[in-house]
Amino acid sequence: MTLPTSTQNQSLIIGLKQRREKLAKLINYPVILWSGSPARRNFSANKLPFRASSHFLYFAGIPLTNAVIRLQGGKLELFLDNPPPEATLWHGTTPTREEIGAIIGANQVYPLAELSGKTAGAATIAVQDLATYQQQSQLLNRPISLSHQTTSIDLELAQALVKLRSHHDDLALAELRQAAAVSVAAHKAGMQATKNATTEAEIRGAMEGVIIAHNMTCAYNSIVTVQGEVLHNESYHHQLHPGDLLLADVGAETPNGWAADITRTWAVSGKFSPSQKAIYEIILQAHDDCIAKVKPGVEYQDLHLLAAEIIAAGLADLGILEGNPQDLVAMDAHALFFPHGVGHLLGLDVHDMEDLGDVAGYTAGRSRSDRFGLGYLRLNRPLESGMLVTIEPGFYQVPAILNDPNFRAKYQNVINWERLAEFKDVRGIRIEDDVLVTDSGAEVLTASLPTKIEELVVMSNE
Ligand code: GLY
Ligand code: MN
Repeated sequence: MTLPTSTQNQSLIIGLKQRREKLAKLINYPVILWSGSPARRNFSANKLPFRASSHFLYFAGIPLTNAVIRLQGGKLELFLDNPPPEATLWHGTTPTREEIGAIIGANQVYPLAELSGKTAGAATIAVQDLATYQQQSQLLNRPISLSHQTTSIDLELAQALVKLRSHHDDLALAELRQAAAVSVAAHKAGMQATKNATTEAEIRGAMEGVIIAHNMTCAYNSIVTVQGEVLHNESYHHQLHPGDLLLADVGAETPNGWAADITRTWAVSGKFSPSQKAIYEIILQAHDDCIAKVKPGVEYQDLHLLAAEIIAAGLADLGILEGNPQDLVAMDAHALFFPHGVGHLLGLDVHDMEDLGDVAGYTAGRSRSDRFGLGYLRLNRPLESGMLVTIEPGFYQVPAILNDPNFRAKYQNVINWERLAEFKDVRGIRIEDDVLVTDSGAEVLTASLPTKIEELVVMSNE
């Protein structure tokens, strides 16, 4: 665990107290949040990297293992066991429960065993690790719903957490800016490594090396692939060939859990082919125009539809689609090539608060569309100052979509297959940045990473 310096500690204590006080204005019963415990790799001393629950981190600030906090009326009680004396042999001296309590500004600290007497009437949020999830149910003596639909106090808590966590405070923004800066550096290193790399894995190594060297981790499994059409590709063994595009979706997470999420697509040879350039420019226009529209009050779904229309218009100009862009979007023809949403909330989680289902992503009363072109939209809310969202339009030739007989039949009159075949060296392109909604518009936290082809060419030839 990386402990804060004394100046950082003062802002941490003040910031965490403000969060607790805001929570107390929304929820007047106790809230108990578990950090979780590390999963093991086959035997118990060999632990997988631990990631504390994000709701816990939001109020505790630092990634404690096997810890619980109880929040009520703006106060924080920490429940944590001191490590047994023999642990110093393997882990050195670690801070005591009292020292950790002081770091996070706890009002009281207790051994874990004392939690059982203080759980009455408390709300919680299910954590992802099964062992802790079972403890949650046992200690609260009731089922805990992973989907937040059965217990009304848990649903109310989820809604309160969404209110707080979707508007980033100064403490959060300082961390998010660090994650963004390191992610930008990682992408630059990936571009610079391309000239001498022969496999995807080498570029991944260059990118993740920068993240690790900053004492950060990856916020999600990196996607570094010449098969950009596999949306969440997590294999890195392919050889790089001169005509390939490389899609890299890599983001850092600070030691306290705050994420960045960036995608760039560049040419392995340093030079885009005319077909790659033509499609890239369409996606870049969708990216730029959506970002230019970000400001409070704008419906995020309208940004998605704007991206869809720009992509449909661009593909129609190239002769790949046939028809009027609005009609093409109305029939979801854009989704043949842009099947996902234009982005999502970003914060402590890369898809922030997605553990709460659509409670965070969708305004109350709204639900997922069953339309092919809207169903994967993760965010459907009006934008508000303090929200951090990604904008990530893309173009992909996904065999499972383009070879599907139902899609082929449905879209036979609007797609020109012969023309599409001329673009077969464009497997997947995505351009993704992290955009903070401000009072007057937007600030792109990842703006220092180039998006223009000329700049990418320079970077990948350096
Ligand atoms: N970075 C991966 C995603 O947004 O789904
Ligand atoms: Mn993303």
